[in-house]
Amino acid sequence: MSDSLTARAADVFLAAFGQPPTVKVQAPGRVNLIGEHTDYNDGLVLPCAIGYRTVIVARERDDRLLRVVAADYDDAVDTVSLDAPIERLAAPMWANYVRGVVRELLARESVHGAARGMDLAIAGDVPQGAGLSSSASLSVAVCTLFATQPAFQDLTPIEGALVAQRAENDFVGCKCGNMDQISSACGVADHALMIDCRSLDVRPVPIPEGAAIMIVESHITRGLVDSAYNTRREQCEAAARHFGVSALRDVDLADLQLLGTGLDPVVLQRARHVVSENARVKAAALALAAGDLARMGVLMAESHVSMRDDFEITVPAIDHLVEIIKSAIGEAGGVRMTGGGFGGCVVALVPESLVDAARLAVARDYRAPNGELATVHVCRAAAGAGPVEAASPPRQHLTASPAFH
Ligand code: GLA
Repeated sequence: MSDSLTARAADVFLAAFGQPPTVKVQAPGRVNLIGEHTDYNDGLVLPCAIGYRTVIVARERDDRLLRVVAADYDDAVDTVSLDAPIERLAAPMWANYVRGVVRELLARESVHGAARGMDLAIAGDVPQGAGLSSSASLSVAVCTLFATQPAFQDLTPIEGALVAQRAENDFVGCKCGNMDQISSACGVADHALMIDCRSLDVRPVPIPEGAAIMIVESHITRGLVDSAYNTRREQCEAAARHFGVSALRDVDLADLQLLGTGLDPVVLQRARHVVSENARVKAAALALAAGDLARMGVLMAESHVSMRDDFEITVPAIDHLVEIIKSAIGEAGGVRMTGGGFGGCVVALVPESLVDAARLAVARDYRAPNGELATVHVCRAAAGAGPVEAASPPRQHLTASPAFH
């Protein structure tokens, strides 16, 4: 575990509040192996938590005030009263993630004014804007912190994840699905999670021995992400209405062929991505459990093509990055864009013996449109949110590769 992160949060805490923290929690970011834009269609996803995290250190107060400071921003302290309506701020944005979660938590019936005030310092090392869920890790860390209070001890990891999602949906204003928060809350070391985003069933699937998860940051700035994301959601909802179901989870490929005529061609394409992606996640969970990286490679390649051609959320430089890695790993593993799209990261699942070849190929052949080199991280699936102590070595294994800058 990068204890330096906790130490940094503790230093900032001491400087801001004049005494040491007594509680330390963490929540990880995530990378999605397969199952993109399926979560808000009540579908299936196969992500894992990663060793980049948000750490919050805190100390309970005698009153009903929250005072919050973020190590990575300025020294400004955001002060919130638990007895007054909690408002959204124009800035800083990080404060809204905390405020939104707290507001949701206070709305729980069981709380009845029993929440206690706290001082908090936040530090994180999840790359921001890279599609690795830095914001979900912050929101889930706030839930995890409050779950240490008696008033919230009944808050399960899944409930905490849903609180965090609601805060992002309704307070921050991002209409994301529930994958990121559930991955962060429920991660299991060395396992991916097969999440049924409708039933909320979470099934850990072991990552095969000898397989490495490579995360390659393209450094392509994601433009228009929110509006493009929301448009895709609306198109999926329109398709579900056409098929007379509550979500595309209830449509299969045969339905698409039989009943898809009459649907706007672009909406049909979007639906085909979601429906085929759900089928691929099922197949991928089986392939992963069987240690079949070659089959994972086929499914991840199909997923990428579907995101590129049907869902239209990739960009040429990302397609090129995927091709570079594929040419280095051949049939032995898989690679695809991961996350919401339009930039961000590529994920590869490869035998450890091919990591160096993939790394070299990326360093040699890839440049972002602005000339920047990619950053490569080789990691193992991490445990989910919890007390910092419970996440100590050997459960956290993320090794940042020597970055190619
Ligand atoms: C973003 C959202 C998730 C999910 C992915 C796409 O990460 O936050 O809920 O929809 O995009 O799979």
